[in-house]
Amino acid sequence: MSILEEIKKRKTFAIISHPDAGKTTLTEKLLLFVDAIQMAGAVKSSKIKKATVSDFMEIERQRGISVTSAVMSFEYAGMKINLLDTPGHKDFAEDTYRTLTAVDSVILVVDSVKGVEEQTEKLMNVCRMRSTPVMIFVNKLDREGRNPIELLDELENKLDIKAAPMSWPISRGSSFKGVYHLYKKNLNIFRPHGKADGEETIRVNDLFSAVIDEYTGPELAARLREDVALVEGVYEPFNMDLYLSGKQAPVFFGSALNNFGVKELLETFVELARGPGPMEADTRMVNPEENTFSGFVFKIHANIDPNHRDRIAFLRICSGKFERNKFYYHVRLDTEVRFSNPASFLGQKKDVIDEAYPGDVIGLYDRDKFKIGDTLTEGEKLMFKGIPKFSPEIFKELVHTSLKAKQLEKGIRQLTEEGVAQLFIMKHGNKKVVGTVGQLQFDVILYRLKNEYGAECRFEPMYAKKACWFTSDDKKQMEEFQKYKADSIGYDSADNPVFFAGSQWDLDYYIKTYPNIKFYFTSEFKAG
Ligand code: G4P
Repeated sequence: MSILEEIKKRKTFAIISHPDAGKTTLTEKLLLFVDAIQMAGAVKSSKIKKATVSDFMEIERQRGISVTSAVMSFEYAGMKINLLDTPGHKDFAEDTYRTLTAVDSVILVVDSVKGVEEQTEKLMNVCRMRSTPVMIFVNKLDREGRNPIELLDELENKLDIKAAPMSWPISRGSSFKGVYHLYKKNLNIFRPHGKADGEETIRVNDLFSAVIDEYTGPELAARLREDVALVEGVYEPFNMDLYLSGKQAPVFFGSALNNFGVKELLETFVELARGPGPMEADTRMVNPEENTFSGFVFKIHANIDPNHRDRIAFLRICSGKFERNKFYYHVRLDTEVRFSNPASFLGQKKDVIDEAYPGDVIGLYDRDKFKIGDTLTEGEKLMFKGIPKFSPEIFKELVHTSLKAKQLEKGIRQLTEEGVAQLFIMKHGNKKVVGTVGQLQFDVILYRLKNEYGAECRFEPMYAKKACWFTSDDKKQMEEFQKYKADSIGYDSADNPVFFAGSQWDLDYYIKTYPNIKFYFTSEFKAG
């Protein structure tokens, strides 16, 4: 098969949601449909959300050994589908953001009772940065959720995307009857619980078919007709170009737990979702069909077992063909590297692969060579963009409490390279500041430093509530600001200056006072 044919076969995506909206349940049901039933168990337990640090580490340790859940590849309808897993715990949202840089599209799950939640908005902001095409699955229709029109309004307003309903629900909660497919003119009848497949599809000729009344009763049928007239008048019809450019999201209604609407979603996904596309690098756009190989590391999974220091770097292939045992160019280290046992993940099997193509994700065994964002090529000096670090939300000062300073340095460097947290060195006094998006990460760092590196430390609270990178062409203002705020300035791992503000008010004040300085909330400011 030619590279082009291989590319056409691939769809690489992630399922994202605010915790509890139903991502794990939907993933499991999708895997059931594609006959990868044994894989369903590989989907991370939703219990992880309520886990204490020791439960969490135990789960991570087990996952470290069977890393298959980081990427689940399966064949469906002649396509090779790569589903990249994202952490269930909100404190690890940054891991999810990075995974989004390695996918070509996403399915967003929204809880019909809760609507758009905080994490949904944050995740969508990341999708928007990269114009990632999004399909939306409004879940839990079996519960007394919100009015669907209201939900669509909220999706459009809060997520800044046009909604294109593909189906329409017939009532909800205890009187939920199913959905009417607006394009296929199918009626999908809801059969709650118990059934392997919670639905039955009935073809009706049009919305005025008596069959609808028969199944839903005249009152709900009349309401459906009214709703559909309204929906068709208000929402632009589905448009492939708008979807592919991330401006319009097809919306489905269903219930993952009851296996309702999942098959429809999967079939539409396979038909419409984007395959591997061009990826932006610092020097140029890289097209998947190019002859030479390129790819980048978006995730590093530590084994967490102190006896095995191996890590697995997950590499997304962007162009050309990857081959086992061939030398590739590691751009950051300016060196040649070769992999004798690159792994791919099909079902629960982890296989050594001989070759892989754009859209695929492979696991590379690594001791200390990779950092998130590292690029491999066949010699060209380029770095893929779109893997920014986001401004952390919690900051603490790291204080040594053991004599093993070297071990601690190594441990904290490796953990930050894995993306567990960000490390900053303050301009004054060389203090180390660790920034994360969640409290749990601090506990994980303490645990891992102790167990994997034999080093102990303590975290002390810090005044900072916001951190942002800053640049300016105005040397005078830059010098003035750096001198005046010297106590609140540190450097990230690439030596870029970062300002730590005590509050949003504080930050706004300096933005106003130093108008020629630009402040950024992601590290990818050089792009803009
Ligand atoms: P997440 O990965 O997005 O965090 O969500 P997850 O799938 O773990 O689902 C969160 C909770 O919502 C689970 O209940 C799950 O059973 C429930 N759920 C998912 N889809 C539906 C649905 O279509 N209808 C209804 N009514 N509930 C749904 P839990 O009680 O937290 O966990 P569990 O004890 O059931 O595993």
